[in-house]
Amino acid sequence: MYDFQADPDQPKAEFYRELVSAADALTAGEPDGVANMANVAALLWQLVPDLNWAGFYRAIGDELVLGPFCGKPACIRIPLGQGVCGTAASSGQSQLVPDVHAFPGHIACDAASRSELVVPVVREGAVVAVIDLDSPSPARFDSDDQAGIEALAQLLSSRI
Ligand code: SME
Repeated sequence: MYDFQADPDQPKAEFYRELVSAADALTAGEPDGVANMANVAALLWQLVPDLNWAGFYRAIGDELVLGPFCGKPACIRIPLGQGVCGTAASSGQSQLVPDVHAFPGHIACDAASRSELVVPVVREGAVVAVIDLDSPSPARFDSDDQAGIEALAQLLSSRI
């Protein structure tokens, strides 16, 4: 059992440095990508406040397939280019969505979701997965959250 702690009042940049460092400690030396994604999903769920879903979709062929996550059961397959996750995967660009209802084609896996952040994990120039965070609060995520999760994605590039 690992018990990581985070101070909710610290600046976000510092919070994400600690989160990435915890993810590094959890995944270093472990070659199994599913185990690493499972532990990082649990870490995000434990440390990042105000989420209702946190996890991974993996890029397989021309679709995304559900990976390890915490939250309610979710849609299993998302075609590349569709929804927030499929848009992040096909463009290779993070998607910061303050209001999911205003995002064309948003896929509502959990009706409680109001805002979303999806960050691609890129290995050797190809998107291999996306990290998906959903929140019940509108505009929950900002550019600091995006930068922090992008740093996490970079760490995980060779570990999932
Ligand atoms: N909302 C996502 C689907 C995945 S769930 O949020 C877990 C989307 O539009 O791609």
